[in-house]
Amino acid sequence: MRKKLGVNIDHIATLREARKTIYPDPVEAAVFAELAGADGITAHLREDRRHIQDRDIYILRSTLKTSLNLEMALNPSILEIALKVLPDEVRIVPENREEVTTEGGLDVIANRAKLREFVPALQEKRIVVSLFVDPDPRQIEAAVDCGAEFIEIHTGSYADAKGDSAIHAEFEKVRNAAGFAVSIGLRVNAGHGLNYRNVAPICQIPQIEALNIGHSIVSRAVYVGLERAVRDMIDVMNS
Ligand code: PXP
Repeated sequence: MRKKLGVNIDHIATLREARKTIYPDPVEAAVFAELAGADGITAHLREDRRHIQDRDIYILRSTLKTSLNLEMALNPSILEIALKVLPDEVRIVPENREEVTTEGGLDVIANRAKLREFVPALQEKRIVVSLFVDPDPRQIEAAVDCGAEFIEIHTGSYADAKGDSAIHAEFEKVRNAAGFAVSIGLRVNAGHGLNYRNVAPICQIPQIEALNIGHSIVSRAVYVGLERAVRDMIDVMNS
């Protein structure tokens, strides 16, 4: 089955915020990504608003032709925005102010109580809820317990692994986690650190439905343009 591609446009907003200009605009970037065949657009509204701004999310909601996937932390003020904007999907991620990017999966076990408030509040508005987790069976089991329909498996350790045996070991964790998740009733996506060179094996994991990819696509876009960069990723994913 063809994997869907969600294009993460945070990095376009990072470039804009570096100069506090009005360009490049992630809303415009989303148009090009959709024209190139993206199945959805992902944006992370962080508590510190370091890249995506509230205005981006509201405009994306009214202009996207595909799916709006909002990434957010367990933060009540962001929840309030999500319940107003009504994205198609919310992915709950951990968030530390000092981190350069999301550094690991959500500790679902430690955040069980909060998740049992956030997940039904979103689902009542017909928003699909996904939890971003490490390929760890304990966390995956806890995701079911919190009522999530989807998990997104964090592929960062796979992407960062060096040497064939380490890469293989991390890949096996992702593969086993995907199989386990589906066996207990979850649907599965994956993402973080995926690029044109490491994405192909992940596409061979049958249980994974969609990949969310940002940094590698936006980096290639600097040279070849965003439409071409998205198309190139779709080609690698389909090959
Ligand atoms: N999935 C999640 C939950 C993320 O936080 C990110 C990064 O914002 C991605 C996927 C995309 O990761 P990358 O930019 O490394 O492709």
